[in-house]
Amino acid sequence: MADSPSKISSRASRTEAAPPVNLFLFGAHGDLVKRLLVPSLYNLTRDGLLTDTLQVIGVDHNTVTDEDYREKLAEFLRAHASKPASNPKAGPEAEGVGGMDEAMWAKLAPRISYLEGDFLDDSTYSAVADRIKASGTRNAIFYLATAPRFFCEVIDRLAKAGLLEEGQDCFRRVVVEKPFGSDLQTARDLNTNILRVMEESQVYRIDHYLGKETVQNIMVSRFANSLFEAFWNNHYVDHIQITSAETVGVETRGSFYERTGALRDMVPNHLFQLLAMVAMEPPAAFGGDAVRSEKAKVIAAIRPQTPEEALLNSVRGQYCDGDVGGTVVPGYRQEDRVAPDSTTETYVAMKLMVDNWRWAGVPFYLRTGKRMRVRNTQIAICFKPAPMSPFRSTSIHQMQPNYLIIQIQPDEGMWFDFQAKRPGTSLEIDNIEMGFSYADFFAMQPSTGYETLLYDCMIGDQTLFQRADNIENGWAAVQPFLDAFAKDGSVEPYAAGTDGPAGAAALLKRDGRSWYPLK
Ligand code: BG6
Repeated sequence: MADSPSKISSRASRTEAAPPVNLFLFGAHGDLVKRLLVPSLYNLTRDGLLTDTLQVIGVDHNTVTDEDYREKLAEFLRAHASKPASNPKAGPEAEGVGGMDEAMWAKLAPRISYLEGDFLDDSTYSAVADRIKASGTRNAIFYLATAPRFFCEVIDRLAKAGLLEEGQDCFRRVVVEKPFGSDLQTARDLNTNILRVMEESQVYRIDHYLGKETVQNIMVSRFANSLFEAFWNNHYVDHIQITSAETVGVETRGSFYERTGALRDMVPNHLFQLLAMVAMEPPAAFGGDAVRSEKAKVIAAIRPQTPEEALLNSVRGQYCDGDVGGTVVPGYRQEDRVAPDSTTETYVAMKLMVDNWRWAGVPFYLRTGKRMRVRNTQIAICFKPAPMSPFRSTSIHQMQPNYLIIQIQPDEGMWFDFQAKRPGTSLEIDNIEMGFSYADFFAMQPSTGYETLLYDCMIGDQTLFQRADNIENGWAAVQPFLDAFAKDGSVEPYAAGTDGPAGAAALLKRDGRSWYPLK
């Protein structure tokens, strides 16, 4: 029996336009659609990767005409047209749009329309069915860019209306945004509900970190080169640091962030994607389920901790007012829709162990925070010291560890940080960097990171999407920390514009280590 279209996966053909499809964007008036999804569709149009028969249908409860809806989306693109393609100082919303070409927009705009409807009303789904019937294809993608409380509601109603039934000649796929659950139990429940009405091959659980070039490049660097494999293990690696530092605060998302916090917002999803890419075993192939299986295995190998151990191995921080890049900003408790006595963490650092053959004994230190001194997402692989120092009788007393830095954003690239002799008659050493910057080698087109993910969903390639077990393994690894934090609500304050709370430095110092300095 032939595979259903959802099961067809081909990472090889990346130059052909995606197949015809009706792309329904539930939550059409939300920020995600305006800031990331439509700009991505625009970029895909620029790259000739969308079919002329694509239909993009925004679904939401507001009353608006097709023209007004398109104009609102165009306004956002235009407003960002004068901004540089990638401004390292800017937040993510200012990136990814390199300038708007009106002719290019004119190709995409007529394919965008609007459907007014309540997500909880069955008539919305009849209208969705009518739109599909009226289009030239029965293929459909339902993108849930909604608040998480609507995920099951929308999926159940899609199923009830028969809209999730695939045929030999048509696919039906659902993209589920994060947050996917708020702990292990809610993630399991959500998976159970979803898989009750559709196949795993129809579910595209998105994590936008997997759309980032540098994140995908970790796999290519590791598995397309023999160089790295030789030292990519516990014989040579002392420990690994994974950092995602942001300069932005919680912006308009106070009420969401209050119940979420830095741990839930960043760790089981984005930081674990980075951990999986750096720590997984080589997959047998790049595609299908091979990559997802290796990622699931490595996340499942994270050592479970008791809540007591979790407390000892973590630090929670919350930003106070301070100066970020010359701008005075308020503290978290002064932000809109945040409780004045809130104990939600805006920073978290933790130590994890991965109990497998390759990484036994190698700690993984993770940290993420808002309102930090710099915006920087990077992985620092710290190597063990040289086995002995032949420089004992010289002026060189202390040698620094060697690092391989994988720079995810901004200024994407990789570099080795090691020591060299300073020119001169005396024997003195200095730290130097030998690196590769993406911008030096490749003409980088502006992108939001969602282009690859949207295109992959259209062609039915799930490699870069989260499988149910990946999600649940991630939540299982952080559950002891959630439990511990629920009991001990203390947060350590840090001034906005700094590198986070003092406790984070102490977490590594205790092990005789320190964080790689953020540039
Ligand atoms: C989102 C989080 O998933 O990722 C945000 O909800 C965070 O709080 C963002 O700011 C970070 O993404 P990026 O691509 O800027 O690192």
